[in-house]
Amino acid sequence: MTIDPLQYKPKGDKKNSEFFETYKVKIYERRKSGGLDDMLETIRALVVQVEHGDALPYLRELHLMGPYRFHKAFQSPTHRIFILISQPEFPRLIVMEPLAEDYVDEITMLNRLYPLSSAKPNARYVGEIFKTKDVEATRKVLESHNIRFNYHHETKNPFFTESNIAFSFPSDYTCNRVGYCEVDIDDYEALQLGEAIELPGSEKEKLDAISEFSKENRLDELILGVDHMATRILAGEREDAICEFLTMSNYYFWGAYNIAAMNSSTNVNRNGNITDDKISPAKVFTANNIPSFVNSFEKLPMPTEDFVRNFGKRMHHVAYEVRDGDHRGGEKNVDYVVDTVRDRGIEFLAHVVGECKDDPDLKQIFSRHSEYSILITEYVERCHGYEGFFTKTNVAALTAAAGQDERYQHGKVFD
Ligand SMILES: [Fe+2]
Repeated sequence: MTIDPLQYKPKGDKKNSEFFETYKVKIYERRKSGGLDDMLETIRALVVQVEHGDALPYLRELHLMGPYRFHKAFQSPTHRIFILISQPEFPRLIVMEPLAEDYVDEITMLNRLYPLSSAKPNARYVGEIFKTKDVEATRKVLESHNIRFNYHHETKNPFFTESNIAFSFPSDYTCNRVGYCEVDIDDYEALQLGEAIELPGSEKEKLDAISEFSKENRLDELILGVDHMATRILAGEREDAICEFLTMSNYYFWGAYNIAAMNSSTNVNRNGNITDDKISPAKVFTANNIPSFVNSFEKLPMPTEDFVRNFGKRMHHVAYEVRDGDHRGGEKNVDYVVDTVRDRGIEFLAHVVGECKDDPDLKQIFSRHSEYSILITEYVERCHGYEGFFTKTNVAALTAAAGQDERYQHGKVFD
């Protein structure tokens, strides 16, 4: 089923401005007339950078917590690049690790600005790579809409400028990039990521042992793929961030819900050409309803903007869908998955929220953020065919739990 964004009526109770409603329609119309909607297909890869020395432990964490398995590695003049695959039709995960301990580029500088991201200044979710039928035409159309792309010598990392993937500048609203790729995501010869390298045998054995554990405990059957990625941004930039992503993608604005108790809203954008979000995961933006400085009048909790002030605008979590069903004796699959990885040392924020009894509902949980990628992992189980990404009570509980974990103490202000 294909969604026509111009006909679609968004869900939710979050009010948008006239600016948003007007330009959303103009953006959809321009995508159609300018050919972008015809050129862009699905997200074929997610890109994450970690600190020098963190890639291998991060790969082990990924093997335990999700469906991604190490496939190939490359070395460029500045980075080691690891390709991980889950299902062939789902996006690849690309993990980059600088070769030098003192590596500095724009990611490093961005992270150094914020108190809780400065300890791992090279760790950051970078962005998504879309499949396009014509990368040059895509770049040309987007540049005519004032979207900036990186060219040679503008950044140190050749992945952004020398590979066969065109990357936008980090967004001023989200700090995420969007990449566009015409060649097949598995055609490494054409992608030009660097020289192929081998993992040391002992590292391969460690990863294989975790994959084996996952199989023996059925985690590989239960954790399906990436459902959505959620970026946290400033209150005043919510509509800009959504409109910018709609400009740069073929996604449609699915809807937005107000989470009043947390002074926050959740804004969901989806690919309208697919029936399974795991093929091209939803992009979620969360932002405060009113910014921190006037929230001092209202005294509401505000974990969303506190996160932005502590870590910078950035990807906050990546959610995996857990297959719906019961494990032993009525325990839901998500509870079993959480217990199993918790036994292997993964920490979670609070407990699984959501009921999942006889009606359609959602069970969700946030892990603590990875010490390697700074990303939280969310597990989400949709019970009895629940359609949607969250329930208001779940989001309020999850947001509160994550806020507790992201506190930064300074002077007399505790957030
Ligand atoms: Fe989420």
